[in-house]
Amino acid sequence: MELKSLPLSLLFIISTCFSNLEASINGDGSRFSEQHPLKRSDFPPGFLFGASTSAYQVEGAYLEDGKSLTNWDEFCHSKGCGENGDNGDIADNHYHLLMKDIEIVHSLGIQAYRFSISWARVLPRGRFGEVNPLGIIFYNKIIDNLVLKGIEPFVTIHHEDFPQEFEDRYESWLDPQMQDEFVHFAETCFKSFGDRVKYWITINEPNLVSEFAYEKGEYPPNRCSQPFGNCSAGNSDIEPLFAMHNMLLAHGKAAKLYHEQYQAKQGGLIGLVAHCFMYEPITDSELDRKAAERALIFNIGWTFDPPIFGDYPQEMRECHGNELPRFSQEEKDFMKNSTDFIAINHYSSLYAKDCTNSSCLETYNRAIKGFVETTGERNGVPIGDPTSMPRFFVVPRGMEEIVNYVKTRYNNTPMFVTENGYSSPNVDNAQVEEILNDVKRIEFHQAYLASLVKAIRNGADVRGYFVWSLMDNYEWLHGYNVRFGLYYVDRQTFDRIPKLSARWYQDFLRNNSLIDIYDL
Ligand code: NOJ
Repeated sequence: MELKSLPLSLLFIISTCFSNLEASINGDGSRFSEQHPLKRSDFPPGFLFGASTSAYQVEGAYLEDGKSLTNWDEFCHSKGCGENGDNGDIADNHYHLLMKDIEIVHSLGIQAYRFSISWARVLPRGRFGEVNPLGIIFYNKIIDNLVLKGIEPFVTIHHEDFPQEFEDRYESWLDPQMQDEFVHFAETCFKSFGDRVKYWITINEPNLVSEFAYEKGEYPPNRCSQPFGNCSAGNSDIEPLFAMHNMLLAHGKAAKLYHEQYQAKQGGLIGLVAHCFMYEPITDSELDRKAAERALIFNIGWTFDPPIFGDYPQEMRECHGNELPRFSQEEKDFMKNSTDFIAINHYSSLYAKDCTNSSCLETYNRAIKGFVETTGERNGVPIGDPTSMPRFFVVPRGMEEIVNYVKTRYNNTPMFVTENGYSSPNVDNAQVEEILNDVKRIEFHQAYLASLVKAIRNGADVRGYFVWSLMDNYEWLHGYNVRFGLYYVDRQTFDRIPKLSARWYQDFLRNNSLIDIYDL
């Protein structure tokens, strides 16, 4: 659908809402003029704008060309994982529509495309088997075609899915064997693709995986204990700490290998990504302010202190004592400075409430949560507009705040915002037209980008921003009804149809402002 065919009234609403938005965002004494619409040129030269996807969420072809079954295949087939029994068997059929998707990426005018490698497609049996040449061919095709079009491949080595065999043999991330398994996979990627890939992310959101897979037990392998959930096995107070420890060491070992044996000749950078909520104290009390600080430390510090400083935050050690795994001296040495950049997936802010001195839900009154209850509501009022994700609210100021927090804590290590995106609240029987006219998504990105610019102007070394997601895709527990895409995907024909936000992003990247949307 062409933007030109949109009624003028809608275009008027869009431009009005943006000029208001800018006025409210910038009416706080920052350097923007009140009417200054955000432009590409507000970002530093060389700043990478991109879009993200991940293998399980878009590829499909779950048993083709030598790929083995993954933890998510197994989970979805046995338990039924998404709403409506959805799963990623076909997903967006990206495996077969790859060239079309690269066209889309190209037409957006983005400088980088972030995608992940399916472990089971490249190494169907990990260290227990051979490299699958067809898997290598598939990713070579993506990388070569991106490079041909001048688009930077930004590669996540591991994003949730791994061969089920690791779970069956040794319980995957609960076992240190998984560290060497990952290093083998990472090295296969460096050898096969590293001549063209200049940006690597080792593991996507290990903090969120630890929580959802081993504390809440909602992601495979569904391990948890009461009161966190009803799982057949697990220990929600301890296992997330072990899983995280193995993921962090896997990152550290792969990064050491890259730094020592590949970086000089391949010339790339390697980093780690965390799921980063911003936390605000629910009241002005000293206790709640400390709780918000603890929530940040127990999420961001948990993930990034080891690969930057070489060890877990002291506050976590005090809270967990010996339950928190320890790094040996040798491990501390290679963990330290093992990330060349910090990758931030940021969507929302939450309120933080102290549990040491007031009553909290039982699941928050625990060491693993730092004795902090986090919530999206205060006195029944949400912290920002709701979305279709239960804990994601629209809070643009959180972007500046989280970037400033990371900048201060880690001495302005280079940062990338590797995910930021909006999924509109679900409307029963939403018509395609409504989905395509996604004014709210444009507002979201515009507002979060304006907030990001403020942090950059105050010195934060942020080097890129990726929209989640290029196209609607399989959203884990929520299936296909939660849509983050710039493109709508027809579930019958798999046609990709640009939403208004795709046209906006394209226009923004040409350095037009939204007011110029009339000229499209
Ligand atoms: C983070 C994850 O990396 C991605 O897989 C997910 O779809 C988005 N957030 C939205 O929840």
